[in-house]
Amino acid sequence: MALLDYLGSDYKNAVQDGKIVSQDEFTEMQEFSKRTLELVKQLKETDRVDKAGVEPSLKSLANQIENKADPKAVAELANGAKQKLLATYNIVPYPKQLPSLASGKTIYLENCAQCHGETGKGDGPSRATMNPKNPVPANFTDAEFMAGLSPFKAFNAVSFGVENTAMASFAALSEEQRWQVAFYVLSLRFSPKSAQAGAALFQSKNVPVELTTIATLATNSDEQLLEKLKAHTAQKSTDALLSPPNPTLGPFSSPWTAAHLKEALAYLRRGLLETNPPDPLLIARTLLREASELYTKGEKEKAYQKAIEAYLDGLELAEPILFAKDASFGRGLEGQFTEFRNAIKLGVPAEEIQKRDLDIEAKLDEAAQILAREDSFSGYYSFLNSAMIILREGLEAALILAAILAMLRVIGATQAARYIHLGWILALVAGGLTWLATQTILTLSGQHRESMEGFISVFAAVVLFYVGYWLHTKAEAKKWQAFIQEKVQDILSTKRIFALVGISFFAVYREAFEVVLFYQALWLQNEQNHGAVIGGFITGLICLIVMTFAILKLGLRIPLKYFFGATGTLLYIMAFIFAGNGIKELQTAGWVPSTPVGFPPQVPLLGIYPTVETLAAQALMLLAFVATSVWMARENHRALRDKASYG
Ligand code: HEC
Repeated sequence: MALLDYLGSDYKNAVQDGKIVSQDEFTEMQEFSKRTLELVKQLKETDRVDKAGVEPSLKSLANQIENKADPKAVAELANGAKQKLLATYNIVPYPKQLPSLASGKTIYLENCAQCHGETGKGDGPSRATMNPKNPVPANFTDAEFMAGLSPFKAFNAVSFGVENTAMASFAALSEEQRWQVAFYVLSLRFSPKSAQAGAALFQSKNVPVELTTIATLATNSDEQLLEKLKAHTAQKSTDALLSPPNPTLGPFSSPWTAAHLKEALAYLRRGLLETNPPDPLLIARTLLREASELYTKGEKEKAYQKAIEAYLDGLELAEPILFAKDASFGRGLEGQFTEFRNAIKLGVPAEEIQKRDLDIEAKLDEAAQILAREDSFSGYYSFLNSAMIILREGLEAALILAAILAMLRVIGATQAARYIHLGWILALVAGGLTWLATQTILTLSGQHRESMEGFISVFAAVVLFYVGYWLHTKAEAKKWQAFIQEKVQDILSTKRIFALVGISFFAVYREAFEVVLFYQALWLQNEQNHGAVIGGFITGLICLIVMTFAILKLGLRIPLKYFFGATGTLLYIMAFIFAGNGIKELQTAGWVPSTPVGFPPQVPLLGIYPTVETLAAQALMLLAFVATSVWMARENHRALRDKASYG
């Protein structure tokens, strides 16, 4: 197919008006058309028949080229055979997602710039030493050459190389990476300014969406895209003749000028891809490699910092989707990133870091495939994922709130409930503002994000422990009765009100913050499935509300003694988990050192990680729990004894 693509678009450089204009090109055309016949023979050996039925057209194509036929006829034949192959072998000539320029650029600078030059002029330093010296590397800024190039053709050149030239195959790059760099080379000849002007044109006119689909952009050469744009604008001008003047069509109700067309093309080739978010896996890969190189140079601290960024600014952003598609793979990969950081910390030999880097990079390729696995379920996945996020995060917050609300009702301090409500409403408002802030003003770097989460988690752990303790001390029926009599007034003191508002605010804001982050990632990565994300959110929210009500009602049914005991224990457990997770988040952000140990295995669900610091924080929680329990037991004992001696 790549050969047919090549024949179809380049034959016109070999023959015009029945005469050979370039002997080299002509020889190449003859050679390539023969090669297509050989390849079809090979296909026939595996398929037994000429499944696509292209052999006759390929034969006549070879004949036509031999007879120096008209370029138009050759292009038609080549294109027809190509379409048949596409259809028969279910080849998809475009990527799953429109690549981002940022990702393409990284790959280009690493693999292609040495020959094609940093700016794509074909003037890279290796040009002098490459083998064979001719033909010279393609110039991606040459309008005439680029007119015939499509991303699909460039993708094929990168995948298979161009025979008998220095342009080798880059099959070692993943399919996704080859697409990214293929789209990138087509953007090189356009300036950001003309891309912007083109964007404005597109906004002021109703350009049909089919011009901006991935399939169109990938399979059309610049020349073909221009023709489509021209056809569209010409049609608009006849509309304008038939209908009364339409002011909304603006200055372009006449055909676009050549300059306009070029700007529109610049938008399609560059602007459209610039607004695309960069690929998080590629960022992870680049930063990991940098970390490994820094480490080899002996720059341990910097390497560690890069390794942190590789996770936070890279992999973590891809995690929501990755986990939805293959949770155990995602966890394994995340664990490898942690081990990589720990290995840097431990100061292992540089070879080991390099090996780990390569291992992870191989895994990242696999991750890309998993992410691209376009099962027909993808809408379903986005939906489910979206519903689960709000449900899971919401339930955590709801459990805490429900426990406190039920408690207030039980002790008859229902007036105090409004402060709890105030707290969570404020938290939701703050969550909304966070969403706006991350959308517009600041995009939190991974490190800031993780710091925020870490501090909130640790704070939440302390608050939860305190509330859990408080509940436990009231577990004795007598105690809470005494409490009710004495403290109903007291609970409404200003200090307590602040505490109540604070507890409910932090319990909810912590989750709201995570919800914002998760949905942001989900939203960006499900361009095609925004409807499913919204649907999932609403469904999840409804489930959450129903379950919260059920919990509240159930909470009132449970005998009081058990209720306090059970909710108190629940809060202790949550405090334990938050302590581990919070410290881990602070480690990831670099606030707390990370000293790896061999045991225990990591259990994220319980916030358990094999580092001294996280384990110490959790041990502290346990210790506090034991200490308060012992103290409470002694208090009870004394109370009993006092009672005995007085009674
Ligand atoms: C060793 C030097 C070298 C490197 C490295 C190299 N190229 Fe090339 N490339 C060439 C040469 C030489 C040609 C011209 C081939 C020809 O004229 O048929 C070429 C041609 C091309 C073409 C045009 C193919 C066509 O259909 O006419 C594309 C697209 C291309 N390269 C993309 C890339 C990309 C993307 C990379 C990096 C992944 C890359 N090249 C790396 C030397 C190189």
